[in-house]
Order: sequence, then C-alpha cells, then structure tokens
Amino acid sequence: MNKVTSTYNIRRYDHTNDRSLRPHSAADEYLLRGLCDQNQSQKKIAIYNDRFGYLSCHLNTRNPTVIITSKGQQCAIERNHKSNSLPIPQFVDPLSSIDPQIETAIIKAPKSLALLELFIQQVIHNSSKELIIIIAFMTRHFSPKLIELSLKYFESADQSIAIKKARLVTLTKKKQAPKLNLIDSITYKEHNYKQYWGVFSSKHIDYATQFLIENLEINLEDKNILDLASGNGVLAKEISLQLPQANIHLIDDSFLAVESAKLNLKGDNIHHHHANNLADIEENSLDLIVSNPPFHLEYELSINPALHLFIECFRCLKATGNFQLVANKHLNYLTHLKQIFRKVEITAENEKFIIYKCSKQITNLPNEGVY
Ligand SMILES: C[S@@+](CC[C@H](N)C(=O)[O-])C[C@H]1O[C@@H](n2cnc3c(N)ncnc32)[C@H](O)[C@@H]1O
Repeated sequence: MNKVTSTYNIRRYDHTNDRSLRPHSAADEYLLRGLCDQNQSQKKIAIYNDRFGYLSCHLNTRNPTVIITSKGQQCAIERNHKSNSLPIPQFVDPLSSIDPQIETAIIKAPKSLALLELFIQQVIHNSSKELIIIIAFMTRHFSPKLIELSLKYFESADQSIAIKKARLVTLTKKKQAPKLNLIDSITYKEHNYKQYWGVFSSKHIDYATQFLIENLEINLEDKNILDLASGNGVLAKEISLQLPQANIHLIDDSFLAVESAKLNLKGDNIHHHHANNLADIEENSLDLIVSNPPFHLEYELSINPALHLFIECFRCLKATGNFQLVANKHLNYLTHLKQIFRKVEITAENEKFIIYKCSKQITNLPNEGVY
C-alpha cells in the first residue's frame, strides 16, 4: 500500500443528501499513510470504525479483520467492496474474539471514548505482545483524555504532526491491563438497565426518552409494538411492564445497543433486530411504534435517516395504529411528519422536547392539537 490517493470509488450509501459529507476524511487518509510509515506491510491488521469501507477497500490485499459496530456500516462496506470488485472482508463484532495473530490495529477515533476503550480492550486481550495501535482523529475533535486513556494500556503514545487538520497517535509497548467488564448500569424508576460502553446515554436515561415515557399513551388492547432505534431498550421495557403479553420488537442499527437491550428484555414475546430499517417488520402489522429517533451519527447531524425510518413506520402501522416519537424541538419534524401521516398531533411539549403522535387515518374530527 504505497499510494494514499484513492483508486477506489467509495460511496456513503446512507440517507444523507448533504453533498458536503464525504465517505472518508483526512484522518482516514492519514491512517493509510501512517500504516505505510510504520513499515508493517506483512503484519495482520484489524480495522476499527471504518464507516463506509474507505480503509478496508484500500487495505483489501492485507486481508484485514474489520470490526463492525453498526448494520449501516456493514452494508456500506459490503456495497463498496462489491462495486469495486473486491472480496468482502472478514467481519467481527466488537465483543467477539479476534485473530490472535493481529499485530497492528488502526482506529478512526470514535466520538465516544468509552467505545474507543472497548475497542482497545478487544484488541489488547486478543493480540500479540508486539501490538501497535494507530489512532487517527481530526484535530478539532481531540481531547487530552484520548492520551490519558492510551497511556492506561501502552507505555508510549506518540502524536504525529497535523496534516490536513488530522493527526495520529501511535501506541506502542503494550502494558499488562486487566480485562474490564464493559457494561454500565443505570437505575431508572427502580429498574436497573445495563448497557455496553459506547451505547447512547451512558450516565442516565436520556431526558427526551424520559419525557416520552412520562407522556406515552398506551392502549391496553395493543398487541404488536415496535421500539424503533431502541438503544438499551428502555422504552420497550417500560411498555412491557404495562403490557406483559404484547409482542414487542426492538430495532437498532448499533450492535452494542442490541446486545444491551438483550440484557434488559428477554422472553418469547420479545424480538430483537439488529437492523437499520424496518425490513423485518410486516406491512400493516403494528398497533404502536415508539421512538426517540437518531439525528446524529458521530459528529454529523442529519434528520434524513430518521425521515426514511418514518416512511417505513407508515408502511408497518395498522390502519388503527399510531406512532409516538419524541424529538428536540429545534428539529422541526412537524412539516415532514405531515407529509407522511394523515394525522399528526402534538401530545406534550416542554422548553426542549416535543412529542408527536402520528396516525395513518383520521379517526376523530380534528381538534386544536391536530395538524
Ligand atoms: C436517540 S438514541 C435513542 C436510544 C433509546 N431509544 C433511548 O431512548 O435511550 C437513537 C438510537 O438510534 C440508533 N440508530 C441510528 N440509526 C438507526 C437506524 N437507521 N435504524 C435503527 N436505529 C438507528 C442508534 O444506534 C441509537 O441507539
């Protein structure tokens, strides 16, 4: 891998329509360059946080192990490999064992330092003594905590000069480090929720989610329910306490979120789906959908992925069903929801959050809160 200039056509394969968003950054380019400089061309590598496959395509001849954290990431990498006529790389999730022969790991730093630590824990406890980790980040995202964290696991953390506003940290001389339990615990309404490091809202149940739980309208007749973008499953859990017999589906794009929800909800009527869409759900089958939908991925903000999910919600709701979602007020979902659903009500709001209840059909005469 001598040339860093791209010979591959890499696309994002997500729902953003913002043309300024690119499928890779200067930090990804710097990782490739850093790998060359380390003169490690023969060594087995692991790749972390490669969102769309820029790194895995460029390093395909090295037969890399690619650690996958989300369904969207896996689909994009597969599509980019196929469209560039490259073999699909070997995927591993971040909780499984990886090849002990791995001697180099390259990590595009995730926003969550807890997730970075989970990555380091995986690779450090599976790999050879000579392990080198190269972490890349855009300088505007740098936090000294990244170095602090690195020095917990390695004697040396060397920072590079900045190129195109990106920087590398190379970690060498692995220390002996204990294997940590990578699960946080949150107590909410007398229940204990568990979640893997790096899953959304690690210190407390998100305040928007709490607002939705406090204002949720549940019909005791509801039989088929979906918690969309379910995170640790707190919304589904709260519903299951009121409707223990209902069939509850939980969908999340993040592997660690789905594995967390599995720790919090179990049962024959609970269905966990690791997916970034509603393809698993039958048309006209749901009585209720609840969601605190995503509006950012790492450092990027966009409501487009959520709007695509809303269209799928319309398809999956029964004619009598409804979709209740909470959002930050500034996102202004109302105009978009009105284009998808026949009836959209605001059921609660405070200074920060707003709850919409959307139905396929107009069942009542419109009143003041109906748009
Ligand atoms: C705002 S958090 C809400 C999590 C949880 N419901 C809660 O309230 O704590 C949004 C969640 O959406 C997930 N997500 C992002 N894109 C998604 C997609 N296309 N399909 C399903 N889930 C997605 C993220 O992994 C994250 O867990």
